[in-house]
Amino acid sequence: MSYPIETQNLTKIYQEGKIEVTAVQPADLTLQEGEVVGLFGPSGSGKTTLLSILGCILKPSGGTLKIYGHEVSSLDEGRLPAIRKEYISFIFQGFNLFPALTAFENVLLGLRMKGMVGKNAEQRTAAMLVEVGLGERMHFLPRDMSGGQRQRVAVARALSADSPIILADEPTGNLDFANGRKVMELLKQLAAEQKRCVVVATHDNRIEDIFDRTIYMEDGRISRIKRSSP
Ligand SMILES: Nc1ncnc2c1ncn2[C@@H]1O[C@H](COP(=O)(O)OP(=O)(O)OP(=O)(O)O)[C@@H](O)[C@H]1O
Ligand SMILES: [Mg+2]
Repeated sequence: MSYPIETQNLTKIYQEGKIEVTAVQPADLTLQEGEVVGLFGPSGSGKTTLLSILGCILKPSGGTLKIYGHEVSSLDEGRLPAIRKEYISFIFQGFNLFPALTAFENVLLGLRMKGMVGKNAEQRTAAMLVEVGLGERMHFLPRDMSGGQRQRVAVARALSADSPIILADEPTGNLDFANGRKVMELLKQLAAEQKRCVVVATHDNRIEDIFDRTIYMEDGRISRIKRSSP
């Protein structure tokens, strides 16, 4: 049986000239289908680094990472995009929207990159933007939107693809309580109904009750894992 994500002794050491920064200390994790996992920890504790490795954006320095049974830690860098395309949607901490494209075009491009085109892709794009409360602003450029609205475009882009793994870096960081809650409930619903595996790095204690499991990081180390009581 293969899991969406499995790691063993996963580590990341950044080399800054002569200085080494250990951003992730040996981590053993098994993440299941249908599970919504929170990744908590102070600034600099390694959340983005760990999430980027799980998302096959960053190569680990050591240990193994398996995505649905595929051992990706030993693959060439050139093979990673194919793995990402098939399995992973990533919501970046800085949104990574294309500034010259409207909200609609940003989401549509995300679908194109996953291989979905035509009327279907357009309908799904519109539906997703309505879902995150941006129905009225579909044709705005990022610069004409607030931080929270941009964040919701990034969320819509990630969720519109059918990827079985959704990784989100501070997806509610710029959102007020109601909109943050809405985004998290959407993620929870996708996990439950479509058996997706969702990992959310966050500081946001207001959404802590949403998670099936919460992983706490301190100085790159997983210090505690809490499972919510059913
Ligand atoms: N490209 C890099 N080169 C060197 N060190 C880095 C690099 N990226 C991150 N680090 C270091 O690795 C550690 C973990 O950083 P990371 O961005 O993963 O933290 P984080 O928990 O996501 O923080 P935040 O909550 O502020 O987003 C920090 O000490 C950081 O300075
Ligand atoms: Mg971060």
